[in-house]
Amino acid sequence: MHIRKLAPPDREPVLAVLRSDGTFQIDEVDVAMELVDDVIARPDVDYSALVCEDAAAGRVLGYVCYGFTPMTTGTYDLYWIATHREARGRGVATRLVQAMEQKLGAAGARIVRIETSQSEAYGAARSFYARLGYAEVGRIRDFYKPGDDLITFAKSLDERAGKLRPVSVPDPSAPGAPRLRTPTATTS
Ligand SMILES: CC(C)(COP(=O)(O)OP(=O)(O)OC[C@H]1O[C@@H](n2cnc3c(N)ncnc32)[C@H](O)[C@@H]1OP(=O)(O)O)[C@@H](O)C(=O)NCCC(=O)NCCS
Repeated sequence: MHIRKLAPPDREPVLAVLRSDGTFQIDEVDVAMELVDDVIARPDVDYSALVCEDAAAGRVLGYVCYGFTPMTTGTYDLYWIATHREARGRGVATRLVQAMEQKLGAAGARIVRIETSQSEAYGAARSFYARLGYAEVGRIRDFYKPGDDLITFAKSLDERAGKLRPVSVPDPSAPGAPRLRTPTATTS
């Protein structure tokens, strides 16, 4: 297995990775591929991507797409990461994230942010992020749809800054748990 930058011939294999199970809906695959196409057209401008390849078989096993977060100093977003269904649990995504962090660290990055969904389909991804030291630092309830929160994970790459503190997230069903305020009708 080795990690390298995504190149134009990787487009179809990456699409196959994204379609290899039911995690991503068709519209999500479309958005992921828009970013892949941007990387191919303008590498390392808005987005960058790495692939993990089984060199012997010449097969793309997974990819990660990330980019600089505009209007920040040294903050980056990890936008998409996926491993082909048949290659999971073998450290492909770990290698991809470690390679990304190495590149970003060398470029002076401070923070990597990941936004993800609370839905069951993303359960593996949430465990994976936690395992790699990403802390849950925020949550917007019912963001994607009722019962499906947006969860923000983040990790500090700046060792001097120390670890990002995870927020404690109250049980949404608990009395007094914070909720978005519903606008009240006003008369003018
Ligand atoms: C999340 C994902 C990228 C992990 O890829 P992977 O190559 O299988 O991950 P790794 O083999 O590097 O796993 C590293 C660790 O992550 C955690 N992990 C990975 N898959 C997991 C799962 N299904 N359930 C629980 N933990 C999991 C484990 O702690 C694992 O360590 P271990 O093997 O020592 O137990 C993969 O499951 C995937 O492609 N999912 C669908 C796409 C997705 O949800 N992407 C994220 C949103 S963009």
